[in-house]
Amino acid sequence: MANKKQSIVDERLWRKIISPREARGEVKFMEPMRSHTYLQIGGTADVFACPQDTVSLENILAALNEERIPFVTVGGGTNILVKDGGVYGVVISLKNFRCGDIAKEEKDMVMFFAESGVPLQKLVSFSKEHGYSGIEGLVGIPGFVGGAIAGNAGAFGYSIKDSLVSVKMINPDKGIYEMSASELGLEYRASKIPEDTVILSANMRLRKDVKEDVVKRIDSFLKQKRETQPLLEISAGCVFKNPEGTSAGRLIDEAGCKGMRIGDVEVSRVHANFFINKGDAKASDFLKLMDEVKKKVMDMFGVELEPEIRIMGRNVNG
Ligand code: EPU
Repeated sequence: MANKKQSIVDERLWRKIISPREARGEVKFMEPMRSHTYLQIGGTADVFACPQDTVSLENILAALNEERIPFVTVGGGTNILVKDGGVYGVVISLKNFRCGDIAKEEKDMVMFFAESGVPLQKLVSFSKEHGYSGIEGLVGIPGFVGGAIAGNAGAFGYSIKDSLVSVKMINPDKGIYEMSASELGLEYRASKIPEDTVILSANMRLRKDVKEDVVKRIDSFLKQKRETQPLLEISAGCVFKNPEGTSAGRLIDEAGCKGMRIGDVEVSRVHANFFINKGDAKASDFLKLMDEVKKKVMDMFGVELEPEIRIMGRNVNG
């Protein structure tokens, strides 16, 4: 193809700019992103690196900064659509940052420390087991703590912002630094954490509560989710943010979009804000379906839907 760009970094260049001792952890080249996203869609990443520890991550970021090689960070890959042309540059996975424990305990609350690669549901199970309150509404949301913070994940009126105290991050210019939750610009399904900043860990405050009450809330939220969302199918969760005061799912449903299909991507018949990969879906079809659905909702309700999923990478033709 005439204008298809080559990769910006291959194995030879990677080995030249960073040694395995400086960057401990698995590194793969031309790695299909479909293997790392819930949607199972997407072309290859030039490099897919899983640093083993903070020092390795720091070294990788410094080398990439020096060479002006672009990078993106991924957590659980749950809320991401990677385009068919793949990711130009380096994808950094934080799956090895998995430490989490109580950092401080007081009479009415506990402070919980979690690295960014801790699965969110591990935290929810922990709070259920011990009767800690504050994150009940996050039950059933897949992905890691880091991604949940970056997108201020939530449901049922809860969001991770409510229990977040502070976040440690790393940025190629600033190095490692910590910010309080209130400084992160966390709002509905969004934060102001810059793209080139990697979340390392978080401190969260949970309230000690009556265990049975916490269990009841979590179980009831999960039951509602199972009844109203296609949790067993391949999706990235809600595709669009809820517009102020209404539900994107309801608007898409009322615009008659349930069951609409382009290629192997279909608007769920269970919850219209979920798009399902029915087999061998292409990102281009997913994006086309998003456009069609947006148009229908705009025509019928005059409401502009905004994506909730994070779209990354490039089209096949660069
Ligand atoms: N509805 C329809 N048709 C549909 C889907 C929903 O009519 O196809 C109606 C429902 O009957 C209900 C209303 O719309 O009356 C709201 O639906 P629901 O309770 O399912 O909530 P939602 O607003 O669609 C939000 C979050 C979900 C979260 C649920 C529960 C967004 C974009 N979605 O959905 O989060 O699980 O509330 O709190 O914020 C996600 O972020 O990935 C996600 C799934």
